[in-house]
Amino acid sequence: MEYLIPYALEWLNLLFRWLHIITGIAWIGASFYFVWLDNSIRPPAPGSDLEQKGVSGELWAVHGGGFYNPQKYLVAPSRLPKELHWFKWEAYSTWLSGFALLFIVYYFNAQAMMVDRSVADLTSLQANAIGLGSLLVGWTVYDLLCRSPLGKHDVAFGAVIFGFLLASAYVLTHYLSGRAAFIHVGAMIGTMMVGNVLMLIIPGQRKMVNAMMAGAQPDPVHGIKAKQRSVHNNYFTLPVLFIMISNHFAMTYRHPHAWAILGTIMLAGVLIRHFFNLRHKGRVEWKYPAAGVALLLALAVVLAPARPQAAQAANDSRAQFAQVRQIITQRCVSCHADQPTQPGFAAAPSGVMLHTPDQIAQNAQRIYQQTVQLKAMPLANLTNMTDAERAQVAAWYEAGAKQE
Ligand code: HEC
Repeated sequence: MEYLIPYALEWLNLLFRWLHIITGIAWIGASFYFVWLDNSIRPPAPGSDLEQKGVSGELWAVHGGGFYNPQKYLVAPSRLPKELHWFKWEAYSTWLSGFALLFIVYYFNAQAMMVDRSVADLTSLQANAIGLGSLLVGWTVYDLLCRSPLGKHDVAFGAVIFGFLLASAYVLTHYLSGRAAFIHVGAMIGTMMVGNVLMLIIPGQRKMVNAMMAGAQPDPVHGIKAKQRSVHNNYFTLPVLFIMISNHFAMTYRHPHAWAILGTIMLAGVLIRHFFNLRHKGRVEWKYPAAGVALLLALAVVLAPARPQAAQAANDSRAQFAQVRQIITQRCVSCHADQPTQPGFAAAPSGVMLHTPDQIAQNAQRIYQQTVQLKAMPLANLTNMTDAERAQVAAWYEAGAKQE
């Protein structure tokens, strides 16, 4: 039965990843919608019925063949409606499914996914403890900062929390593999966002509703506190979404200064988000997305691979290919096979199989990119590929990746 464990984990991975994306879309989608709504509503005409009712803003929208007219009440309506919709399970289930994925993908296969022995030679337990600890430390520091006087100054607070996340990325990339470090910065931010919903936003709303049910005026302070956290969540969205797809981009997390690269991309995300927030309010300020795009372009220049040295055409390309094939068989095929022999792997990762000469030739460009340019493969260098072997792969590819 034990041989089925990696296969079972592969299914859990599939199911939880699917769920995570669905709930994540529902959560961030609802959150984008409400931010847009809040920024787009306009006050009703002075003295109108709406104003008398306590409506502070409204708008009209058409969607899916129907007309909608949402209205926002400042603090609360005078009477509690019979049916009130809350938005919280989107956030909770995104966090829960993401937390499960951390175990399924990372912690249960820590030597391959968490540890990079060229960074720090950790045991699985140590690496997993650092991962879980980062979530706890992240939330604690963030929550204390929010409650401190700094929390009242949005821009200063943003700068400090950005610095804190950058420092966390620095520390994590010096203990964990690049991909694990990135995903944990993302999980830290995700935990802050869900913590805000669970600990501040929903309890605040509940206190307001309870006050109304007791026939009292709800205290606006709850709304103000919730608003602060919800502004933070809004600016976290684009950075966290990049991090969730960052594992596809070894060029970002494999870099010696991966923490700085992550910081640059997060900053670009915040600037672009800021543009949309302002635009909903009717202010179009192109300088923000322009700065974000400029940062990304600068990054593209910094990350560009070095020009390959003009390789001498090998005298005997057949012998050269035979050597490369031997290296790949020894260093790659334990994972990149239909039925991997590497413990913890159930299927060829990313569908890449490297058994046959044809498969190697077909994947030549990706092999070169992953083993020479990015040094992202073999994963965690579990199969101990040497620099001399990488140089052989480079020489083969640069001489035209000939098969014969
Ligand atoms: C310990 C298991 C393991 C070993 C050994 C390994 N890989 Fe991989 N490889 C993976 C995993 C897991 C992925 C999935 C990609 C990801 O999530 O980044 C992958 C992805 C890839 C990809 C696709 C990358 C992309 O996103 O396009 C290529 C190409 C690749 N590996 C080549 C190699 C080569 C060449 C070797 C040998 C030098 C090798 N791998 C050794 C686990 C391994």
